[in-house]
Parts: sequence; structure tokens; C-alpha cells
Amino acid sequence: MSKDIYILGIETSCDETSMSIVKNGYEEVATTILTQMDTHAEFGGVVPEIASRMHTENITIVLDDLLKKANMSVNDVDAIAVTYAPGLLGSLLVGVEFAKTLSFIYNKPLIATNHIAGHIYANMLVKKIEFPALALVISGGHTELVLMKDDYKFEVLGSTQDDAIGECFDKVARVIGLPYPGGPNVEKYALKGKHTYDLPIPMNNDSLDFSYSGLKSSIINLAHNEEQRNHEIRKYDLARSFQDVAVDELVRKTKLAIRKEKNNIKEVIVAGGVSANKYLRSEMQKLCDSENVELSIPPIRYCTDNAAMIACAAYPQYLKKDFSNLELDAKSEDNLFND
Ligand code: KG4
Ligand code: ZN
Repeated sequence: MSKDIYILGIETSCDETSMSIVKNGYEEVATTILTQMDTHAEFGGVVPEIASRMHTENITIVLDDLLKKANMSVNDVDAIAVTYAPGLLGSLLVGVEFAKTLSFIYNKPLIATNHIAGHIYANMLVKKIEFPALALVISGGHTELVLMKDDYKFEVLGSTQDDAIGECFDKVARVIGLPYPGGPNVEKYALKGKHTYDLPIPMNNDSLDFSYSGLKSSIINLAHNEEQRNHEIRKYDLARSFQDVAVDELVRKTKLAIRKEKNNIKEVIVAGGVSANKYLRSEMQKLCDSENVELSIPPIRYCTDNAAMIACAAYPQYLKKDFSNLELDAKSEDNLFND
């Protein structure tokens, strides 16, 4: 029998300080997440300088808590994996320097893991990814339909021409006066509203690319015009109308991709922060049921930023001995899908 592999994952790319130990790339031993959301909410969004300072303050607390929960020591793990990109540079650096220190002190291999790969591999916590898989990657910086033929073998079928879907949720939240965090609040408001606003359908064609800037601008203009006329915006209805149009477009494009690749895909996986959206989850389930394809979406706690997904994504890297040295640097951007 082969030996079990334990990977310690570290995630500090935005406003969550998180660490996790995952066994064999799919079995979560323990995870700790310390969120800074309440602090940033006072400012209406993530303040990068505050985020990196708080990561520095919290990182050893998170490690202690994790090791206690897992009843393990750093000596017991086989590798240290850390998110090195993409994200807020100052925040990423805290995790990267900490990981390098642990790797040096405990003499463990260091793995540089991409945050978006983490969101995709979060699906391993539910079930093994079956290739070829069609991944819908929807986050603050990404809106992509990607064919995944094997571990880390990506072929982009379509991507956004302008704004990412999560960015659009956040912007719309701000324009209609909903507090930070934008996406979850738009979802909450949408639950109480009706689809009464007539909004343009983005990229109303058969291309697998996305475009959200037109939808975003139409909401900015609508809010502006209502303000000029001293009219109140119906926030619940506008949130609902936007969410319907934005999500329906994701579902429509996923359907097109499934049909184009029909004989080629074993399952659809959804990845990234926006996959926490319940309307999206139920519409994707309906789509996959009607197309007779399996759907895998991580439970909500694995959709938003966490280190368990980083430890999962690091496992195929561990198997390939894709290790980094102590010169590893954080990068605010690094496109996973380029090579
Ligand atoms: O993947 P993620 O945690 O961060 C990036 O790696 O970008 O995604 C964050 C994005 C934000 O834009 C946030 O508003 C959005 O995911 N988001 C949601 C929901 N929860 C988070 N969007 C819609 N509905 C949600 N429930
Ligand atoms: Zn993320």
C-alpha cells in the first residue's frame, strides 16, 4: 500500500487567512479560516494595506489553531503548498514568506499553487474530477469556460471580453447602494425581489465568450437616471433582475459548450467565489439534469477562499515533484490557462 500524503495548504491572496491539511489530494483533515470581512466592510471593500497587516498578525494564530484541530505537527506533513498568484500582492507575500520559512525550518518541499487552480480543485473535496471535464470558472477576476483534459491541462473555450462576473456583481452592489461584500448581498436582495427591470442580455449570440460591461453600464445608467428624476430604485427588484440576466447567461453559455463538446466531457465543474450563488447552483443543476451530464460544485464553504482547495490543487503538483525553491515570489497576476 502506498503511503498517505498530507499537504499543508496556505491561502492569503485576499482577505481570508486560511490554512488546511488535506490527505491524498481530496480528504480534508482540518481547515482554519480567519476572515477580515468585518474590518473591510467598514470601508466598503478590501483595503490592501490593512489586509496584508492583518494576515501578518493572524498567520501564526491560524497555524496554531489548525495544528490543534488536526492533532498534527508541521513535521507530520509531506509538503507545504501556498497560493503565490493571483491576488493582492502584499497579502500573497505574507503567505509566501511564511510558507518558505516553514519549508526551510521543517525541511519540507515547497509547492507554489495558483489560486484559480485551487478553486477548480476544490471539487476534489466532493468527488474525484473525471476528465475530460468542462469547468466554468467564475470569480472576482475570472469568467471562463475551460475544457480540462487532465490535471493542469486546460483549453479555454470562452472567456470574458471585459468584466469578470464577480466584479460585475460587486459593482452593481455598489451602484445600487448595497453594502460590501457585493455578491452575497446582491443574492440576498434578489431573493426578496421580482424580475421587473428590462436589462440587456450580454453577448446574445452563439460565441462561448462573455461580456458583462454592457449589462453593468445599463445598471449604472438606470440608477443615474432614476436619481436625476428623484425616483427611488427598487433595490430588491433590480438585484433580482440583474442576477437573473447575469446567471442565465452563464447557464446559456455552459449549455452551448456542453453541446459543442458533448461526446467529449464526463462532467461539468463549477469553480470560484460566484459558485456560492444559490440561484446559479440550482440553474446549473437543472441544466446538467436536462443535458444528462454530471455536475460537481463544491459546498458553499469551499467556494469562497479557503486553504483546503489549495492543498487539493497542490497534490498533482506534489506527484509530479513540481517544487519551488526559496526564491519563490508572489505575483498579482499569473494566467493559469496560458500554457
Ligand atoms: O473566487 P473569489 O473568492 O475571489 C477571487 O478569487 O476572485 O470570488 C470573489 C467573488 C466576488 O466578486 C464576490 O462578490 C463573488 O465572488 N461572490 C458571489 C457570491 N459570493 C461571492 N457572487 C454572487 N453570489 C454570491 N453568493
Ligand atoms: Zn478566490
